[in-house]
Amino acid sequence: MDKNLRKAVIAGNWKMNKNPKETVELIQAIAPLVKEADCDVIACTPYIDLTAALEAAKGTNIKIGAENCHWEKSGAYTGEISADMLAAIGIEYVIIGHSERRTYFGETDETVQKRVRAALDAGLTVILCVGEYLEQREQGITDELVRLQTKIALGGVSADELKRIIIAYEPVWAIGTGKTATAEQANEVCAVIRQVVGELYGADNANALTIQYGGSMNAANADELLAKPDVDGGLIGGASLKAEDFAAIVKAASK
Ligand code: PGA
Repeated sequence: MDKNLRKAVIAGNWKMNKNPKETVELIQAIAPLVKEADCDVIACTPYIDLTAALEAAKGTNIKIGAENCHWEKSGAYTGEISADMLAAIGIEYVIIGHSERRTYFGETDETVQKRVRAALDAGLTVILCVGEYLEQREQGITDELVRLQTKIALGGVSADELKRIIIAYEPVWAIGTGKTATAEQANEVCAVIRQVVGELYGADNANALTIQYGGSMNAANADELLAKPDVDGGLIGGASLKAEDFAAIVKAASK
């Protein structure tokens, strides 16, 4: 992290966990533990929990995000939620392009780009996920792949809008597996992302961009990962569901 240049951001990705009642309990458990945080703290919850999460987070420093949004404003898209709908209830953040959406729900770089566009148009801040599969890392194409994912997703995004983008580098082989990328591996790819953003938007804009690492980040490894210069925070799955663990990561990012 380089806090002189950019904001540190720790975001929880609750995935398909917690009902509204459990959401209130978890936010209430996290809030006192992170109130002194010297980083942004976000909890991204299932759609059905967002209203409860917003209510529970009132008066705290926890911001609430969604885990996806559709690219159209409204229409015949059964089961979908638009970025405008999220903005209308007071949501500020949305995760887009998570590998689980890409793997299980047919998300492509093109649909990611459309969702990013819609989210920005709705005034949201995007947590844009990129990352390689294990086979791709083994083939030595991680950098090319992550560059491509980043470039396509940012297609049409202006330099001013880039201020509302956070990129999360999440190697798919490290998500939910307990296998963390080494701090060096994480930093290396975060630096590649910063480089491609620099090519597109110039060095100053790239230096101001928050780039998170995600993939089995936990209380034990957060310090080492966050000590790296290009790792500006974390997108936390499993460990975000336990208040103490999540708070420990927030504490590591507050140093
Ligand atoms: P994990 O998930 O921390 O459980 O590996 C990270 C993510 O999917 O964002």
